[in-house]
Amino acid sequence: MRLIHIVGARPNFMKLAPVQKAIASIEKSEQIVVHTGQHYDVNMSDVFFQQLRVKPPEINLQVGSGSHAKQTAEIMLRVEQVVLDHGPDMVLVYGDVNSTVAAALVCAKLLVPLAHVEAGLRSRDRSMPEEINRLMTDQLSDLLFTPSIDANLNLEREGISKSRIHLVGNVMIDTLITMLPAAQSFLPPDLPSHFALVTLHRASNVDDLEWLKRMVQVLEHIGKDLAVIFPVHPRTRQRMHDVGINGTSSALKLVDPLPYLPFLALQQRATVVVTDSGGIQEETTFLGVPCLTVRENTERPITVEMGTNKLVGRDPRRILNEVQAVINGRAKQGHIPPLWDGHSAERIAEVITQYG
Ligand code: UD1
Repeated sequence: MRLIHIVGARPNFMKLAPVQKAIASIEKSEQIVVHTGQHYDVNMSDVFFQQLRVKPPEINLQVGSGSHAKQTAEIMLRVEQVVLDHGPDMVLVYGDVNSTVAAALVCAKLLVPLAHVEAGLRSRDRSMPEEINRLMTDQLSDLLFTPSIDANLNLEREGISKSRIHLVGNVMIDTLITMLPAAQSFLPPDLPSHFALVTLHRASNVDDLEWLKRMVQVLEHIGKDLAVIFPVHPRTRQRMHDVGINGTSSALKLVDPLPYLPFLALQQRATVVVTDSGGIQEETTFLGVPCLTVRENTERPITVEMGTNKLVGRDPRRILNEVQAVINGRAKQGHIPPLWDGHSAERIAEVITQYG
């Protein structure tokens, strides 16, 4: 069986790692990893392959950045050629980035069986490009691997046959469990005992420059009580530069995007995490670390219902109050969702073995 994995952006790489390993144990399986090149900075890409011990992609399509239409179209053109050249029995796509939906469209038109890892998540907010990517990819997929039961219900509601949907758990947590011991040696020696860890890169937070400035003020305010460590995504760095925020202030430590292991180590030790990421909402829930999500909605409601995540919206007062609550020992407690147990990728491999 010949499988092609298509990945392109940072959050795809930690999902690929365990699936690739699990599929390697299927007899006579042959795998090709295609990197679209959506993310191309060393810190956003290469370093993840090194740290996750995934061999470098066999093919890199080097599409780079562009508008959504341009990036998606470039990925489609280049992925189509790869699929035609290699004739896979199945293509696997991950998450909700532009590379995911572009590859899904190509496979659906070439009648190549398509599997979507992390299917069924919905924010119900179509102003998010990722929501469009999720809706489209799921409609086109033959196998849909979901991380939690809410995702199954979303898919069933959209008319997708139950026979195609497989609740397998969270592959990102497979990676986290495997890598957590190795992460410990990446803790910086000068790490404060209490600190807030911050990431922001969504359009809703960084493309609205007035809000971005306000959010940086909020972080500086938090910095009066708690050290703030903020690894800055390239897109956010650009926007901050546009509004004249360049350096680290005494209250705020801006650093370059971090590789997987040091970031995981910081997450585990953080007093509180402030983020708009999807994956970090899940990782903090698993780690039992309080998470404040600077968004009005989430496609990962299980992290709010069961986990340590709270949606704080774009509301400075709420953000500051919630940070204060954590400092005062009133952090939200949570549980780990079912099947986030380190074996999700094995379940995926089992389903793939029986497919066809
Ligand atoms: C993408 C995903 C988002 C995911 C995020 C994780 C889509 C629609 N969005 O957003 O869901 O949460 O990745 O990081 O696919 N850039 C660099 N170097 C890089 C990559 C990007 O400088 O290696 C800069 C470029 O200026 C680029 C901008 O960041 O234009 C945005 O990159 P892009 O891949 O379009 O989207 P992300 O914001 O990274």
